Amino acid sequence: MPRRPLIAGNWKMYKTISEATSFVEEIIPDCPKGVEVAIAPPFTALYAVSERIKGSLLKLAAQDVFWEDEGAYTGEISPIMLKDIGCDYVIIGHSERRSYFFEDNEAVKKKVSAAIRVGLVPILCVGERVEQRKGGKTFEVVKEQMLSALNGISFTDKVVIAYEPVWAIGTGLTATPEQAQEVHGYLRQLLREEFGKEFSESVRILYGGSVKPENISGLMEKEDIDGALVGGASLKASTFLKIVNYGRI
Ligand code: 13P
Repeated sequence: MPRRPLIAGNWKMYKTISEATSFVEEIIPDCPKGVEVAIAPPFTALYAVSERIKGSLLKLAAQDVFWEDEGAYTGEISPIMLKDIGCDYVIIGHSERRSYFFEDNEAVKKKVSAAIRVGLVPILCVGERVEQRKGGKTFEVVKEQMLSALNGISFTDKVVIAYEPVWAIGTGLTATPEQAQEVHGYLRQLLREEFGKEFSESVRILYGGSVKPENISGLMEKEDIDGALVGGASLKASTFLKIVNYGRI
C-alpha cells in the first residue's frame, strides 16, 4: 500500500480565532484529494477550527499535549481534552519545546504513549542541531530521539515521524532533498529493525524546515519523504495551498 502524503501546517503561536477560521474557510475548497492536509492552530483556536472543518477532509492537530488524563497540572492540556475537541493528530517533541521548555526524551516518550492511548496520532519530531550535524552526530541524535520516544509502543499503533533539522527551522535554509532523504531512509530502516517491515512501510515520515512552494516538489519526489510539517509558510492560505498542491497552483 503506498503511503498517503500528509502535509501539516504548524502555526506555532500565531493567529486569533477569527484569523484561524477565515484561513480554513479559504483553503477547504482547494485542498487536493490525494493529499491529507492537517492544521495545527494554537490551543485557543482549536475548538473554533474543529467546528468549522466538520464535514471537510481537513484534519486537526494540536501542537503539544501533557501525558496525564487529568489532575492538578496548572496550564496543561490532556490527551482526552484534545480528543474531545476533535483533534486527530498532536505534534510532540518539537525542537522549540525541547529547547525553550526543556522537554527531554523521557517527557516526549510519555507524551507519545499518552496520545496513542486515547487514539490521537502523534507527529513525533526529531532533528539534529547544527553543531551535531557538523560533528557527524546526525544519525546518532535522531536514532536516540525516535527510538526512545517509541519505546513500548506496538507495531499496530499509528504514528507519524517528522524529521526537522533544527538548523533548517525558520532560517530559510532547507535541507536538500538528498540530505533529507538520507535521514528519512535511515529512520525507516530503524523502524524496520525495531517494529518490522509492515510497520516501517506504513509510517509516514514528514520533512520540516523552511518548506515553501518552491522546494516542496523536489522533496516529495524522494522515496522516503511522505509529506511536510510546514511552519512559516503555512500561515498564509494562498502559500499553504501552493504547498499542499506541490507548487503546482
Ligand atoms: P519553518 O517552516 O518556519 O522553518 O518551521 C518548520 C517547523 O518548525 C514546523 O514544525
